[in-house]
Amino acid sequence: MPDAMPVPRLFSFIGGSSGSWSVAGVTVLAGEPLVTPERVEVVAGNVTARRDGDAWVLRGITSNERYVIRNEKTQLVAVQQGLGRPDSTCAVMIPMRKNDAWWALTQDERRAIFEDQSHHVQIGLKYLPPIARRLHHCRDLSEREPFDFITWFEFAPEHESRFDDLLTELRRTDEWKFVDREVEVRLRR
Ligand code: HEM
Repeated sequence: MPDAMPVPRLFSFIGGSSGSWSVAGVTVLAGEPLVTPERVEVVAGNVTARRDGDAWVLRGITSNERYVIRNEKTQLVAVQQGLGRPDSTCAVMIPMRKNDAWWALTQDERRAIFEDQSHHVQIGLKYLPPIARRLHHCRDLSEREPFDFITWFEFAPEHESRFDDLLTELRRTDEWKFVDREVEVRLRR
């Protein structure tokens, strides 16, 4: 029996003139803007070259969790759903970077800000299962990645206003004081 195919972890996000997702809007929340493309494609693997018409290629890799504790993980696993649900015709890609002050903290200090002060997981849990998500890390891929994270969310159109509420709640937290670049790319399939 051949070995099962490994689940991809590295993804490339290509903003250009082709792709499964059409861009409904780009909003810059903090830091440098990102060129608004017509469409976005997400592909497994490392795309290094831009094709004609591509505005940008961003890369990120899924990883082990850094902050969640067992009780949170159990709650998440019980309710969360995966990407690619047929009725999830809306997606939002939010590349983000955190500042040097964040990265200078120790793991326990970051966890304290992330959850004890900001309640990231407790806030997020209220919005599951309608919102599906995947977190990609960029920071360790190379010295010059433009973002630290690429976050990706999918939901049905009737849940878009709930997603907006989620963003409002999270962006008010202490965790977001460390965010120095954030761009929101709204997509439709
Ligand atoms: C749908 C509800 C959400 C849930 C359930 C959720 C849950 C989580 C969890 C469990 C982690 C920690 C992973 C770990 O332990 O390493 C995490 C990290 C993160 N989430 Fe969320 N999240 C949600 C929404 C969001 C939104 C809307 C954004 C962006 C606007 C976001 C941005 C991030 C980022 C950037 C990280 C990485 C933080 C870091 O490592 O410093 N999340 N999220």
